[in-house]
Amino acid sequence: MENFIAYNPTQVHFGRNCIKTLGTTTKELGKRVLLLCGKGSIRKNGIYEKVIAQLKTDEIQIFEYSGIKSNPLVDNAREAAKIGIDNKIDVIVAVGGGSVIDSAKIISLAIANNIDPWDIMKYKSVPKSNIPLIAILTIAATGSEMNGAAVLQNHETKEKIAYVSPLNYPKHSYLDPEFTFSVPKKYTAYGIVDLIAHSLESYFGEGKASLADRFVESIIKEAIENAPLVLNDPQNYNYRANIMWAATMALNGTNDYGRKNGDWGVHDIAHNISFLYDTPHGATLSIVYPAWLKLLSTRIPDRIKQLGKQLFNVNSVDETIDSLEKFFISVDCPVRLSDIDIYKDKQNEITQQILNSQANGMFHKLSDEDKEKLVKLMM
Ligand code: NZQ
Ligand code: ZN
Repeated sequence: MENFIAYNPTQVHFGRNCIKTLGTTTKELGKRVLLLCGKGSIRKNGIYEKVIAQLKTDEIQIFEYSGIKSNPLVDNAREAAKIGIDNKIDVIVAVGGGSVIDSAKIISLAIANNIDPWDIMKYKSVPKSNIPLIAILTIAATGSEMNGAAVLQNHETKEKIAYVSPLNYPKHSYLDPEFTFSVPKKYTAYGIVDLIAHSLESYFGEGKASLADRFVESIIKEAIENAPLVLNDPQNYNYRANIMWAATMALNGTNDYGRKNGDWGVHDIAHNISFLYDTPHGATLSIVYPAWLKLLSTRIPDRIKQLGKQLFNVNSVDETIDSLEKFFISVDCPVRLSDIDIYKDKQNEITQQILNSQANGMFHKLSDEDKEKLVKLMM
């Protein structure tokens, strides 16, 4: 086992109607609230009213920025940060999924340190403090609600990249599984793929950590078992709760303790494809992972076989990859770029983007030739 620091300062409030304490929690942190929202789902499913009912007291003043898109843009972070600075806000409440919460993390740092969001993302300026962030999660997927990562894209520089900092952890996160009842089937499935992918990035990382391996296997099994149940019965509290907690646990450090680091090569490649075609994060990972496993099949056969044995009770590399791919198909997720209408005419463009961005794994290094092969395997 490698040396490690276990650190997670986020206070998670989990369960039905957990946001009943949102008002008091917010007041303890500040009175001038920047409320951040996505494109509008929370207006349709009633979550917006529930949040406002908590925050609307004489003591709290709300400044709202909404319209943060999926695969969020640095431009929105800049606009929201300006509102925060102009209005001297002292606490942020982010209502949404990874896109809103990730944006909120960078907006928090941009406001507290008066730095441009992209300079933060590129590690050009080092933030020293943050504005406390409260996350209200509405979709189970990224784990952003309990981790220190944030991902933004920038069309000027042609990048979708991650920024990781201990200052990024939300102070509080509210996870009410009922808030995810309205998540459409396809996004429910993309979230499940994402949490499986996070667990796999840890599993294929550097360093031996047997307990962390067992966490990975359990979290993926939980996802695979609950996936068909929740997709057939999307308003079932327990299925939604199981998936929500699995997604949080998949990327809050648990899967990594005892390793040097995860691999993250699949995510890096997937971010570049999402950057080019705005493909949903999970629906990109279900394409990249099988291809990556095929590419690595002769380099790390034992590791892949161990995974297959634990997850699917199969004994070979091919059966492992096949079983994972079949699972993705069973939840209606794409496994080839052609499944999402990206055809051979885009092969060069994708390869070029991946080469230019120097996308790579932290442990399993990919050569330029590997990257070309990987794109072919995804077609
Ligand atoms: O924008 P609205 O209208 O809210 O709609 C969203 C969006 O269209 C919708 N949605 C969310 N909650 C809903 C709902 N629809 C109905 N009912 C609800 N309760 O779902 C769509 C996707 O939302 P988004 O926030 O984009 O999804 P997700 O949580 O998957 O976040 C994806 C982003 O997070 C990044 C990804 O790269 C991507 O940019 N990631 C962040 C990570 C992190 N911070 O640790 C790690 C991940 O690997 C990932 O990279
Ligand atoms: Zn992910």
